[in-house]
Amino acid sequence: MHEDKVAFILFVFLIISSCLCHSSPVDIWRIVLEPQNIQHVKRSRIRLRATQDIPHLAVHIGLSDLASFIYRAGLTDTLSSKGPFTVFGPSDLAFFQLPPESRKVLFTNNTLLKELLEYHVVKGSYFQSQFKNEELLDSLLPGYKIRINKYKKNTVTTASGAPLYLQDQIATNGIIQSLTSVMIPPAGTITYFVKTMSAFSILLKAVSVAGLADILNGAGPFTLFAPSDEAFFKLPSAELDKLLNDPKLIKNILLYHTLKGTVYSAGLTNGETVQTISNMSINITITSQGVEVNDAMVTMPDITVTNGAVHVINAVLLPSNLNSVTNDRYLHFFDNLNNEFNIVN
Ligand SMILES: *[C@@H]1O[C@H](CO)[C@@H](O)[C@H](O)[C@H]1NC(C)=O
Ligand SMILES: *[C@@H]1O[C@H](CO)[C@@H](O)[C@H](O)[C@H]1NC(C)=O
Ligand SMILES: *[C@@H]1O[C@H](CO)[C@@H](O)[C@H](O)[C@H]1NC(C)=O
Repeated sequence: MHEDKVAFILFVFLIISSCLCHSSPVDIWRIVLEPQNIQHVKRSRIRLRATQDIPHLAVHIGLSDLASFIYRAGLTDTLSSKGPFTVFGPSDLAFFQLPPESRKVLFTNNTLLKELLEYHVVKGSYFQSQFKNEELLDSLLPGYKIRINKYKKNTVTTASGAPLYLQDQIATNGIIQSLTSVMIPPAGTITYFVKTMSAFSILLKAVSVAGLADILNGAGPFTLFAPSDEAFFKLPSAELDKLLNDPKLIKNILLYHTLKGTVYSAGLTNGETVQTISNMSINITITSQGVEVNDAMVTMPDITVTNGAVHVINAVLLPSNLNSVTNDRYLHFFDNLNNEFNIVN
């Protein structure tokens, strides 16, 4: 079915480009929609366009590290087979920009390399235009899904947070969508992430006092700006104690750190304000140093979790009208969430 779509879209494109000079739009569509033309082009034209399988096309479009990793991981046969597959292919620079430790492990452990690459492949041919925002695609790594996001305001498409740059590269057995960063498979939900990372012991306590552990373990999707322990310790210790002993207050503060939907940094723009789940706005500033949220700096952006994204920040975000927040003004948003989202306990 996807092959048909690929062929059809290619066909429409070819017909339109070859007819534009001498036909009216009506003529073009009349020709396009004629069944015998569709059949004809499906058989002949597509072969003229795509001459290389996925590994060869990867080399051809400059993804040489990807091609050599595919070979090293023993995935050449799979990715040369009939497929079709869609490969989300990180650029050489993307592989280079991985933290040195990760690069080292990848270069020495072919099992891990294979798993990472399998996370970058899905069955079927997908053009960029066929993706839907928040769509989850099963990767070849069993149990792991790729989350697609399409951000209308800046027309960026991401795959598990990695922006697509060279789109819709057509191979004989599928499509390559190239990426400016490497996708890292999600370890678990937001709650799981907060629980397992030692840098978030205060946040973990806060989430539990606020009664938000279940909802942040649910389907979401959500985006959490996650203050590290270091961020919480910037608060006067009396204040911190007060917060951690006041469930309503801490819930409001945490919801001020949470967005509905998956917002990776590629979907943020400089100077914008975004609404939090507590329906208050936070200010986004993007500088050469990175992303700032109000007065906090994002120290580690774009962590993929199964139910959204996490950005680590170095200061706790406090709503300007903290006092009015404490009187429950915004809590009904939280109550509505229970109905709106599927909660996994
Ligand atoms: C290589 O990676 C796999 C998969 O993550 C892991 O199970 C294995 O222990 C690693 N091997 C070495 C030698 O580190
Ligand atoms: C959220 O706040 C805006 C004003 O900042 C308001 O217009 C809107 O109605 C609020 N949304 C809800 C659901 O109350
Ligand atoms: C966000 O920016 C606006 C305009 O600069 C400012 O008035 C407001 O105080 C800022 N909000 C926060 C929470 O920093």
